[in-house]
Amino acid sequence: MQDKENSAPRNGRRRAWFQNWLSLGGAVIAASSIFAVLLLFSTELFLPRSNPYMGLLVYVLAPVFFFAGLALMVIGLRLQRRLRPGGRLVVDLTRPRDRKRLGVFIACAAVFLLCTAIGSYQTYQYTDSVQFCGTMCHVPMKPEYTTYLQSPHARVACVECHVGPGAGWYVRSKLNGVHQLFDVMLGTYPRPIQTPLGNLRPAKETCEQCHWPQRFIGGIDRTFYHYLSDESNSPFAVRLMLKVGGGAANGTMTGIHWHVSPNFKVEYLATDRQRQIIPWVRVTDLKSGKVTVFKTADFHGKVDEAQIRTMDCLDCHTRPSHRFLSPDEAVDAAITSGQLSRAIPWIKSNSVAILVRPYHTTDEAMQKIAAGLRAEYPRAAGIDRAVAAVQGIYSQNFFPEMKADWRVHPDNIGHKISNGCFRCHDGNHATANGKTIPADNCNLCHTIMAQGSGTQLRKLSATGYDFFHIDSTYQDFSCAQCHNGGGGSVH
Ligand code: HEC
Ligand code: HEC
Ligand code: HEC
Ligand code: HEC
Ligand code: HEC
Ligand code: HEC
Repeated sequence: MQDKENSAPRNGRRRAWFQNWLSLGGAVIAASSIFAVLLLFSTELFLPRSNPYMGLLVYVLAPVFFFAGLALMVIGLRLQRRLRPGGRLVVDLTRPRDRKRLGVFIACAAVFLLCTAIGSYQTYQYTDSVQFCGTMCHVPMKPEYTTYLQSPHARVACVECHVGPGAGWYVRSKLNGVHQLFDVMLGTYPRPIQTPLGNLRPAKETCEQCHWPQRFIGGIDRTFYHYLSDESNSPFAVRLMLKVGGGAANGTMTGIHWHVSPNFKVEYLATDRQRQIIPWVRVTDLKSGKVTVFKTADFHGKVDEAQIRTMDCLDCHTRPSHRFLSPDEAVDAAITSGQLSRAIPWIKSNSVAILVRPYHTTDEAMQKIAAGLRAEYPRAAGIDRAVAAVQGIYSQNFFPEMKADWRVHPDNIGHKISNGCFRCHDGNHATANGKTIPADNCNLCHTIMAQGSGTQLRKLSATGYDFFHIDSTYQDFSCAQCHNGGGGSVH
């Protein structure tokens, strides 16, 4: 800042904005906010994925600083006019005092710019992290964060699935982040969070970054362990060979992952929000162009092309990382892992019964579960461990504050507790000339290699056993009509 007393008046008026320390400081703050925005944008260019809360930084925080800087400039100018009318900030570099002041000012401005750079980058990194997504909005995200921590994807960052790479979604999620912030501040977020998420990125662009269907080959051998609701909690297990199928050398795909084969497109129409009722399915053979439409007999509605959804990973893997176990499944898992002792009579049915009672808060549930089990088993050995196990099941899978549990977030991967595969594979979906989506064959998707308990589980069948079910009339109903996971209606 040289003494500009002699410069042209037009030039002088423009410079007057900067001719006091307050306005200068304001200018530095405003400039830093622009600098921070540029820095954030360039950071995003070099990082493989984007951060959904960029919007917060770029559209909320940065403008606040920018306008605060502008305000300081105006205030500085006003003050200067009032205190020293016509006066100017005169920095005379021949004067040691001015040299010192200017030096201090430049040093402060430089430190401030540096802090802005570090601060905005740190904020950026933080908002991109799992802690931020999972814990910042503590109440609304608790169910998803808790279930995520015990899922196979516990080491995959939230943004890998919820945002993914690329520019288009980055802008969408940025705006969304701002909108969500207001919902959290005002407490207007829905309880439970409504699913399916309308703005979730297509699975092809997220899941397929790490998994791709051509790689699924052969079968998965999986055993499902259960305990009956009898006095001795009798074990009953089913060992399945799941025909996950996948790619053959010529590009054709068979088995379960046929639905996401690059050669076919499977589309469907659901009549409810949760996509549990599917009366209409269309398969397009992308090589020959042949189209097949399957409908249920009672569906006469109009097919609105805009409502049609193309099937992808999420139509079966609805809960890859937020699995809300039903009390039935969760108690079975706790007995299998030994946390809950099978030796306690009726423990399976009593635990399920106490878990499905209505509670208003997690704290209330913890107390009542402890009191209830202790009253039921006043003398049982190891009851403290059982109480801890059942409380653990509750806190991992039930979220009364958000009204979230297995009833509102069904998993479509199988067909026992929610209809899942049987939404289409139920024998009721047929073409005009009577061909149905296969359903009658229990060996279509898996073979039962063994079932029962103890030594029965060692007798494997290569071709598959018929399912041995406690109630032989089971084939007259869909599994989920009886197996509701422990009971109770939706909240
Ligand atoms: C492996 C991928 C994946 C990861 C990692 C992931 N999610 Fe999800 N998330 C999903 C899918 C798939 C859905 C279900 C969407 C639907 O039903 O439309 C979902 C749903 C949600 C929902 C809606 C409510 C619900 O339960 O369906 C919230 C909220 C959510 N996720 C938050 C998070 C948070 C927070 C993290 C990180 C702690 C995270 N997600 C990590 C895939 C993922
Ligand atoms: C950033 C990489 C990444 C992304 C994105 C991702 N996954 Fe995974 N997924 C993994 C890893 C790693 C495992 C293996 C975990 C293990 O073996 O414990 C896995 C495991 C799985 C499994 C097997 C789980 C089991 O029970 O053994 C399924 C199914 C799955 N992912 C589906 C999905 C779906 C659906 C999506 C999209 C919503 C998705 N994944 C997105 C990395 C990813
Ligand atoms: C028609 C339903 C369906 C669709 C669509 C589907 N899957 Fe699967 N997937 C399954 C079933 C069933 C299994 C067997 C495992 C189980 O039951 O949990 C499985 C297993 C897997 C596994 C574990 C495989 C292994 O070898 O451990 C991964 C990973 C996976 N799927 C990813 C995907 C991805 C990614 C997509 C989308 C491109 C997808 N799936 C589409 C039903 C489906
Ligand atoms: C939206 C409807 C829909 C859902 C949901 C669905 N399927 Fe299918 N599935 C189909 C259709 C349509 C076919 C092809 C029927 C035909 O053309 O013969 C098919 C075919 C199959 C096939 C035979 C593939 C081959 O080798 O040709 C298997 C196996 C299969 N489905 C498994 C599953 C499993 C497992 C699930 C649940 C995890 C599931 N499906 C969910 C619609 C569906
Ligand atoms: C369209 C494909 C498909 C058909 C048809 C099918 N299943 Fe399944 N089934 C599955 C899948 C997928 C799973 C695995 C679910 C999971 O991973 O949680 C499964 C799981 C099971 C289980 C183990 C469930 C548990 O929790 O113990 C049993 C038992 C079973 N099926 C019996 C049958 C019987 C009986 C039939 C014939 C009436 C049948 N399935 C027809 C796809 C199918
Ligand atoms: C008519 C009602 C009904 C239908 C339909 C039904 N089940 Fe069951 N199922 C039962 C009852 C009752 C039990 C005994 C439960 C107990 O003792 O805890 C049982 C037990 C089981 C068990 C062992 C114990 C457990 O708790 O899991 C499996 C596995 C099972 N059923 C799978 C299936 C499958 C798969 C289907 C569909 C193919 C099916 N069920 C259809 C009523 C039914």
